[in-house]
Amino acid sequence: MPLAQDALRVSSLHLISTTESFACTAPLLSTDSDVDRLYVSGCAAVRLTFPSQVVAHLREWGVFKGKACVALALCFAANSDGQTFNRDVAPVLHARCAGCHHDGEVAPFPLVTFADARSKAKLIATVTRARQMPPWQPEPGFVHFQNDRRMSEKEIKILERWAAAGAPEGSAPAPKPPVFPTADSWQLGKPDLVVDLPEPFTVPAEGADVYQCFVVPMNLPADKFVRTAEFRPSNRRVVHHALMFTDASRIVRRPSYSCFGTIGLLPTQGLGGWSPGNAPIQMPLDAAIPVAQGSRLVAQVHYHPTGKEEHERWSVGLYFSDRAPTRRVVDVGLASRIIDIPAGDAHYVVKQQFTIPIAVDAIGIIPHAHLLCREMRGWAILPNGRKQWLLNIRNWDFNWQDQFRYQTPIRLPADTTIQMEFVYDNSAANPRNPHSPPQRVVAGPGIEDEMAGLHVQSIPVHMEELPELGKALWGAVMRSVGGSFYRLPQ
Ligand code: HEC
Repeated sequence: MPLAQDALRVSSLHLISTTESFACTAPLLSTDSDVDRLYVSGCAAVRLTFPSQVVAHLREWGVFKGKACVALALCFAANSDGQTFNRDVAPVLHARCAGCHHDGEVAPFPLVTFADARSKAKLIATVTRARQMPPWQPEPGFVHFQNDRRMSEKEIKILERWAAAGAPEGSAPAPKPPVFPTADSWQLGKPDLVVDLPEPFTVPAEGADVYQCFVVPMNLPADKFVRTAEFRPSNRRVVHHALMFTDASRIVRRPSYSCFGTIGLLPTQGLGGWSPGNAPIQMPLDAAIPVAQGSRLVAQVHYHPTGKEEHERWSVGLYFSDRAPTRRVVDVGLASRIIDIPAGDAHYVVKQQFTIPIAVDAIGIIPHAHLLCREMRGWAILPNGRKQWLLNIRNWDFNWQDQFRYQTPIRLPADTTIQMEFVYDNSAANPRNPHSPPQRVVAGPGIEDEMAGLHVQSIPVHMEELPELGKALWGAVMRSVGGSFYRLPQ
């Protein structure tokens, strides 16, 4: 068993005497293979026999020289299983929680220092065991995503044991808090161009969450290729998430309007999104997004009232690529407008499918539905009949609109059929049901309507085949606009 220097869970260790001829009594050492560490429990003056590798370590640390058997007075943190804040818990909270839970961020309280976490130890253990926090929706074991926020069992146990032991701080020095992005720093360094919201937006103190769309001129000096768009809220306390798009049309638009499920226009391109604790989404090097001069930036921002009136004026930093893209990310979007959920129906299923005529590499996936949706499944049936998962969410929460990127692109050969199946719960038992009592819900963009969309971000393997994919997607859009005239066999 590997034994790190911090693995002996002894809060203090006093050498009383050493003797060659000591009769060693049963050690109070136990192993816990799960955490791969050695624990000592109890508090007494005892005689111990250390396993040989411990002796080797004690020698290394200079605790004693040459003897395998010693009499020691051991004082340990009673029953703590050795988990202390400074040594064990802080690294977990800093890696898993503090990105959202720090001062000035949207999460309701900081989880950085011992003082922050001590009084919440039990709550922390409960929400992590229930996997309510950190928010991460995809089920494990189906597809591997980048920036997976799911905690390991080992990390959850560290928090649980620490809470059960009364949340000790430990005597190790307090670890340095992580450095967080601030309202005046860019995570990716100085952008090539910054687009600012012209006027601050005011978020009321109380009431329902606010979904606001903004249309802002980008003032591009020429046609550009955008590698990344970094969204930077000025007031991170109120911003829950943001989605960015471009609009190259010349249509006159309102600069700011309320919008919930959709942005109320057909965007020219998606530019990614932002949510707390996440790094900006970057396009593959050779697949930067072409954006025409004169385009406008459309941002949909989800604001979460904080109890006091807040002002927020975001900026978007654009990073350009010098090289014209040789590949393109295409939104292979599956959607259904056939949604008519009877009041009280706890299991309403919406399906859709689309066969891709060309081979693509799927690099990511963006699901979309509103409050009633519970389950979201997407998979591909490859031409050889094999099923390849693309997304599996069993507990959809509208609050967490992540744009998922695969760890490695998924190759989908020509004639692969992508299928989606979303399940909605319109019963009174669904705590997220916006209607009480439940009412019939149909397709629409409002907070009381529902949507079903699954966007597979795909790069054609052979770029010259792109028009063929475009034609097939256009056909699907036309069928979808036709709605129930083109009902798919379910
Ligand atoms: C991606 C951002 C994010 C991460 C990461 C995150 N939280 Fe949260 N957390 C939030 C937000 C936002 C809320 C407020 C409630 C909501 O919007 O769901 C919250 C709420 C909470 C609450 C209050 C829940 C309640 O029911 O009162 C606890 C406790 C909590 N988080 C603990 C944690 C812990 C522990 C971690 C790490 C293991 C963590 N969070 C990671 C964003 C995050």
